[in-house]
Amino acid sequence: MSELEGLKIPAHVAIILDGNGRWAKAHGVPRAMGHKAGCTTLEGILEDAARLGIQYLTVYAFSTENWKRSEEEVDALMQLFRYYAKKIVKKACDNNIRIKMIGERSRFDADLIDSINYLEEITRDNTGMTFVFAVNYGGRDEIVRGTKALLADYKAGKFELDDLDEKLFGSYLDTKGMPDPDLLIRPSGELRLSNFLLWQSAYTEFYFADVLWPDFNRDELVKAIEHYNRRDRRFGGR
Ligand code: FPP
Repeated sequence: MSELEGLKIPAHVAIILDGNGRWAKAHGVPRAMGHKAGCTTLEGILEDAARLGIQYLTVYAFSTENWKRSEEEVDALMQLFRYYAKKIVKKACDNNIRIKMIGERSRFDADLIDSINYLEEITRDNTGMTFVFAVNYGGRDEIVRGTKALLADYKAGKFELDDLDEKLFGSYLDTKGMPDPDLLIRPSGELRLSNFLLWQSAYTEFYFADVLWPDFNRDELVKAIEHYNRRDRRFGGR
């Protein structure tokens, strides 16, 4: 019998990628090697998630706070992002995956912005899982940016004050058109949301895994889904 028999697969799974630095330290290698290992894990999980039937996988890869890290580490992450953006095109096309970026992209170098736009464009018509990559993303920043756009539209007379409800507000966020996450996974033992999907995670089930992100694998993903199923049965989802 398959381990997945009878399991309800959450439509939207969000993951905070955490623990690359500790993994590097534990292995006596530079932090950049930890991030590289984290990328390899992400590639595997991307395929696993698509095969498990998850419809949206959102990962927190680079936060608005991450710019405060050392110049050396930020540079290494940008280089990795460059390399990874190219590598992921093939994986996405082979697996019918659509890619979407959330976060404020104008702060990246022009070539990276081009890569992000290209990734979204080339995978736009794929009909399988949507892979959402959160880069230069912060929940508060997203809410402030969204509110500015919403107020500009209000000033331009595009809607009345009475029209403003949660649905309309949500349509000004980066996640417009996406379902809220059902399950949020944070590896590495930290019990914080760290400014990830603040608006969207109002009813999300949280799962904290004890492994560092580079050691995360399909078995850990299945464990998180099993946890989600136990909670979902108890509370009926909301
Ligand atoms: C957190 O680990 C991880 C990151 C800051 C980046 C992770 C992103 C990837 C591996 C995907 C590639 C994406 C980009 C944008 C390069 P940490 O350094 O906070 O770990 P620690 O808490 O153990 O120090």
